[in-house]
Order: sequence, then C-alpha cells, then structure tokens
Amino acid sequence: MSSLLHYCVFENSDQLAEAAADFVQREINNCLKQQACCRIALPGGNTPAGCLKKLSARKLPWQSIKWFMGDERCLPEGHAERNDTMIRTSLFAQDADKYQHFFYPISAEKGPEKAAQEYADRIHSFDAFDIILLGMGEDGHTASLFPDNQALTDKHAVVPVFDAPKPPPERVSLGLPTLQSARCRIVLVTGKGKNEALNKIKNGKQLPVNCIGENHWFVDKEADAGSDYCV
Ligand code: 6PG
Repeated sequence: MSSLLHYCVFENSDQLAEAAADFVQREINNCLKQQACCRIALPGGNTPAGCLKKLSARKLPWQSIKWFMGDERCLPEGHAERNDTMIRTSLFAQDADKYQHFFYPISAEKGPEKAAQEYADRIHSFDAFDIILLGMGEDGHTASLFPDNQALTDKHAVVPVFDAPKPPPERVSLGLPTLQSARCRIVLVTGKGKNEALNKIKNGKQLPVNCIGENHWFVDKEADAGSDYCV
C-alpha cells in the first residue's frame, strides 16, 4: 500500500486545477526529453475538468502527446455522462479537430467485454503509460476499480466492470497492473464528500486508489478537512 508521500493540499479547486496543470505540463516536458511520445491516460468524473480546461489553454507539445482513457462508462457514444464527453468539452474544447487524432477513447458502447478487449489490443504496443491522471470516488475507487468488485482482482491490462456501485453499473477500466505500472500517477481530489475515504487512507486502510503505488495527490481543503492524519 502506498504512503502519502506526495500529498499537497490547496485552498480551493481552482488553485488545485492550476497546480495540477502545471505539474502535468512539467511531467510531459520531462518525458519528452527522454522519448518522442508521451502517453497519458485521462480520468473520468467531474473533478478533472478544471485541470483539463487549464491544460487545453497551455502551449503543450501537442503533436508528441497521445491521450488515452483510464476508464469509460458503458453508455451510447456522445452521451452526456460519458467520460470522453467530459474530455472533449474540457481538454479538447479549444481546438477539437487538431487533437482528435491523438485521442483514443474507449468504445464502451460495445459493452464491457468487447470494449475491454479492443482497448487492451490498442495499448499492448507499449509497456506502460507515462502519466495517468485519476480521480477518487467517495468509497476510494479510482478509474472504475471499486472496492470489493471483481474487476479489482482481474490482472488483465484492461478489464470489464460489472455491478459498479456508481452508475452506470457496466464500465471498462484500465486494470490494476496497468495503473500500477504507470511512470507517474496523479490523483485529483476535491470536495467534502471525499473526507471519509481520505481519512481511511491516512489511517492505513487499503482502498483501490492507494493500492496502485505512489501517487501525487492534489487535494483541496474541503476534501482534506477533518481527516485526522495519525503520524
Ligand atoms: C467515473 C470515474 C471515477 C471518478 C471518481 C471521482 O467514471 O466516475 O472514472 O473514477 O474519477 O468517481 O468522480 P468525481 O471527480 O466526479 O468526484
């Protein structure tokens, strides 16, 4: 289980988004000093939108970045609640045409098993993601790996998810080994609803989000407040 080695608390979600965008931009530039392409897996949910909107306005080496998904909800293409819809309206809002061919969404509309297999085929050509951006749910889930769900123990690179407690019940997620093998993981956590999970993690509880290895935690005061960190 990972410690909270890199754990930063921010006054509010906007300052967190700015700092996280700075961090991601630095990590991308460092990655591209070593290799020609930087592969980043993007998160779902609502929290990351602020950071991704800020990234979309940055002078990034866009031609050298490939954007993937950490997970997707099994909903029809274009559905407002799909994670790729959030990505398209935040990271790619400024100039969608320019970057769409560098974006690899998960075809979750095909159902969990078929989409998981297709995405595993898509990512098998490289050994690890350079950066994985993640959120954390109120139960400590990350991507679509939920506590006590079978997908958490599935060792495949990309896994089908059934009976997810957060709707929709069917999803596709990068598997635990894929999250663990990433060179850099960033977890964005905002809002008081995350207090309990953060509290449990700080007091040694193993949840999906902290069994993937060392994370860079970007947490706002609301999420961190009231969590009594036992030294
Ligand atoms: C999803 C995400 C999920 C999300 C967390 C946090 O499909 O919802 O993959 O892992 O990151 O549930 O969501 P919020 O950022 O909306 O709190």
